[in-house]
Amino acid sequence: MTETPRSDAFVFFGATGDLAYKQIFPALYAMQRRGHLDMPVIGVSRSSWDKAKLVQRARDSISQHGQIDEQVFSGLAEHLEYVSGDYQDQDTYRCLRAALGQARRPLHYLAIPPGMFDVVVRGLAQSGCAGEARVVVEKPFGRDLATARKLEAMLTETFAPGSIFRIDHYLGKEPVQNLLYFRYANVFAEPIWNRHHIDSIQITMAESFGVQGRGSFYDGVGAVRDVIQNHMLQVVSLLATEPPPAGHPDAVRDAQCRVFQAMCPVLPQDAVLGQFQGYQSEPGVAAGSRVETYAALRLAIDNERWSGVPFFIRSGKCLPVTATEVLVKFKPLRHAVFDTTPSNYFRFRISPDVLLCVGARVKLPGEAMAGETVELTAHHQAADEMSPYERLLGDALRGDPALFARYESIEAAWRVVTPLLESGAAPLPYEPGSWGPKQAEGLTAAVGGWHDPKPPDSKR
Ligand code: BG6
Repeated sequence: MTETPRSDAFVFFGATGDLAYKQIFPALYAMQRRGHLDMPVIGVSRSSWDKAKLVQRARDSISQHGQIDEQVFSGLAEHLEYVSGDYQDQDTYRCLRAALGQARRPLHYLAIPPGMFDVVVRGLAQSGCAGEARVVVEKPFGRDLATARKLEAMLTETFAPGSIFRIDHYLGKEPVQNLLYFRYANVFAEPIWNRHHIDSIQITMAESFGVQGRGSFYDGVGAVRDVIQNHMLQVVSLLATEPPPAGHPDAVRDAQCRVFQAMCPVLPQDAVLGQFQGYQSEPGVAAGSRVETYAALRLAIDNERWSGVPFFIRSGKCLPVTATEVLVKFKPLRHAVFDTTPSNYFRFRISPDVLLCVGARVKLPGEAMAGETVELTAHHQAADEMSPYERLLGDALRGDPALFARYESIEAAWRVVTPLLESGAAPLPYEPGSWGPKQAEGLTAAVGGWHDPKPPDSKR
């Protein structure tokens, strides 16, 4: 890849908000600890704060996420600057330009409601803060195909295509990257990774909590836009690529893009949407809201490798556990010498703990050639790994787009969920703490039902 110059400042809009608190400060602190942060870090927001208040907010956020090393923190605090102002007011951007000093290639992170993107981008352009800059935009990218196109057109008026970083933090997760690595680094995986051997694939992203005070954001979004169109379909794309040519920097994204384009739109009869009981009493949620907090669907990929193999995706709030898992279930052997059911599988536990499990048949002791399924498990002990946000912010500062969503993939992903978004069907109610509406069971009936992830400490 041709070397692109590193950004020389990091600017984050929405500095007093939830995303900055939960993700950006801890990522900046981790970068500082590794000696990767050698530039001004400027928080921008409407609140009339000052630098001291921003530093305090950073301290609160970081201490919520672990121990603070005072030396590291004071290094971070030295980089921090705060610009307060209305996003509509051109003075805010003049102050930002002044705070940037000599910096000419800032990375701007738009951790703000999407409704403000164009105002801020215009402000950046008019104040000379955008010239050689990069920009990071959070998912969901648009609300649907039409708004994604509008957003892309608006961004490309100001930023070069290679300077737009569409973040999806699932792509920065080690166990998600491992899905691709595992497939193509193992001789026992790659040759059987196709419709001849795979029966079905399930992905469950379950969360035992509700909307956690994000009701007003969530009620404008819902599960399909919040996690299915982006996180879950990105996981599918990594599970389903054709082999990317080795050593070509954009090969994986090319291969992912072709998978997105081969995904069939999900029709309402192939999906079940739900809403947990009590959702409508959450602060910020509209009375009578028809927004889904749960979605389960069957996805088909229309190509030679995957024809006839269903991908089942399910995600929801207020489910029994918080866990994300991928289950790749194989077909039984064609010529069955012995009993091969239930058949083999790979189970990838993505979070909160990281496991790789192989479901294998072994002989039971005794005279009969009869067996049972045992699970061989590799448990990954996280060491000093980068969080997804640390990894992705570092990549964006370096100008490396490999783990960011391609615009063409995002368009294709919107096409996949459009029939669902347009169906207008009211979500089915479900009990908090249950696995969602009973009707979702029908989707996976033909493959033996849903695989329900267990809490971290229990077996299977
Ligand atoms: C975010 C969604 O993108 O991902 C949240 O907006 C969700 O609703 C979160 O809870 C889950 O991320 P993770 O990394 O905790 O699985």
